Amino acid sequence: MLEVRGLVAGYRPGAPVLAGVDLELASGRVLAVMGRNGAGKSTLLKAITGLARREAGTVRLDGRGIENRPTEWIVRAGIGLVPQGRGVFPGLTVEENLRLGGLGHRRPLPPAALYTRFPVLAERRDRDAASLSGGEQRQLAIARALAGNPRFLLLDEPSEGIQPSLVEELGATLAALVAADGLGVLLVEQNLDLAARLADECLVLEDGRVVDRLPGPVLADEPARIERHLGL
Ligand SMILES: Nc1ncnc2c1ncn2[C@@H]1O[C@H](COP(=O)(O)OP(=O)(O)OP(=O)(O)O)[C@@H](O)[C@H]1O
Ligand SMILES: [Mg+2]
Repeated sequence: MLEVRGLVAGYRPGAPVLAGVDLELASGRVLAVMGRNGAGKSTLLKAITGLARREAGTVRLDGRGIENRPTEWIVRAGIGLVPQGRGVFPGLTVEENLRLGGLGHRRPLPPAALYTRFPVLAERRDRDAASLSGGEQRQLAIARALAGNPRFLLLDEPSEGIQPSLVEELGATLAALVAADGLGVLLVEQNLDLAARLADECLVLEDGRVVDRLPGPVLADEPARIERHLGL
């Protein structure tokens, strides 16, 4: 279980972006975080992984406080982060990117185990990451985070800038990881279809605060309830 309580964090002292966020994420569950540009979604993922400046609040992994630990420790403890954007080493091959993702982890997954989830990466294993399409680079970024064999994956807008058919494929891959491997996913997403497909619950963030919590099925059944928060 990943539990965040009263998290206040940002980048400059005295000017927090997050104004006290609470959330819980269990293994095998998907918690979507939605909200407009600048709401603080990426900052939330950075604060959980020790990349943003925490001013108050706690982050617990299976009941153990991790909020004072450095990022390297947090990631090794089983919280993988896929930052917004492509996030691969462009001059390294696909396989080299995957091996680096496992570096320093107690039980890394070998590339072969990741290829079963991401078959297109197996076909491209010896190519430089820079030569991959945007959607393939996104899959590589996710697979690289999974190489550390995390229990929780923090995903920052995985569907951003990739074509609709690949969003569909990504949804299927993530659903399989959650169902079969028991991964817990904190999914920052502006694509309502993808969030609706995967999320058990959805938090709406506005100005660094959680202003609404919706059960996952509401996203699909009553999209107007989330669309008004997103300005759609
Ligand atoms: N590295 C940084 N240094 C200073 N301020 C930052 C930094 N990153 C983000 N901010 C500020 O923090 C606020 C929240 O930004 P954040 O990136 O968390 O929003 P977001 O919800 O992820 O937005 P988007 O949907 O555009 O990705 C914004 O006002 C932004 O300008
Ligand atoms: Mg963001």
